[in-house]
Amino acid sequence: MRPPLVVGNWKMHGGLAEARALAQSVRDGLKRPRGVEVVVCPPFTALAAVAEVLGGSVVGLGAQNCHWEPHGAFTGEISPTMLAELGCRLVLLGHSERRHIFRETDDEINKKVAAVLRHGLQPLLCVGETAEERRQGLTFTVVEGQLRAGWAGLSLEDMGRCLLAYEPVWAIGTGVNATPAQAAEVHGYLRGLASELGSKDLAQTVRILYGGSVKADNAAEVTQEPDVDGVLVGGASLQAPSFIAIAKKSAAKGGAPKRRLLLCDPESTSCAIGRTAVPPGAIESNRLGISAVSHSTTGARSGYLPALPLRQQRSRYVSRGRAGVRVDSRGRRG
Ligand code: 13P
Repeated sequence: MRPPLVVGNWKMHGGLAEARALAQSVRDGLKRPRGVEVVVCPPFTALAAVAEVLGGSVVGLGAQNCHWEPHGAFTGEISPTMLAELGCRLVLLGHSERRHIFRETDDEINKKVAAVLRHGLQPLLCVGETAEERRQGLTFTVVEGQLRAGWAGLSLEDMGRCLLAYEPVWAIGTGVNATPAQAAEVHGYLRGLASELGSKDLAQTVRILYGGSVKADNAAEVTQEPDVDGVLVGGASLQAPSFIAIAKKSAAKGGAPKRRLLLCDPESTSCAIGRTAVPPGAIESNRLGISAVSHSTTGARSGYLPALPLRQQRSRYVSRGRAGVRVDSRGRRG
């Protein structure tokens, strides 16, 4: 079960009065959100004020960054212990603006992830490729490198406490959001990698949010994708009505799971949906009318293939390592 999560990243916007007012409106607009968890990440200077406003509400508090040391001579930095004291429950790490504007390295991000976990907070590790990297066909290479480095040295238990966000750099603040298919492909890839780095169980449970130009009018479409477990929202989180609408549109409908995963062991030719073995090349449908195609014979590198709703199966591009194969509705390559 992966309850949808909607996180608002307020970035460097708003003084105290605006932050309080926005938090109040979000709190009042989401008194009893059904089927969705909501967190807002104000600037550091507004954390205490927003914590006060949100106290006792279901809207959680997060921070946008932190240092890896608990205290010390690090002028201008904020530690995970300080954030925990303010009531934060998660911390955004490796956001593209930190990586690209402030030149944060994978190694620093990894230290931050470990530190945040040590202090009982949840890291929300962001990964994503630039437009140029996508043009060069490097999307999977880039996000794989970022996830491998971000999780380096973590125990399986700690990986299980992490949240992930796929935020393509070209979609952030541009108004050009990734299509649901583009998001699904990368989320599926990341889930496969989670299986390889951790376990199949981890791949089934880790929540992966999509971020990049999410608005009230595209949130439902992207969160419909089985592998998209919510959204990380920038600009549209600064207006309570749009953020509230996004949260409501991202909520799980009727509590039914969107679909099951198909996990393939890359070392063998066997695949399974849950505990049911699936012969290579076969389609497995479950009660929800959801199907998956076993691809171990095609050399699925990550050992994971998203199960696709039947109606989408005919010509969906399914990730296979860095290349990809097209399958028809019978699971035949073509
Ligand atoms: P926008 O929603 O403004 O594109 O920003 C996305 C983002 O960076 C969230 O972390």
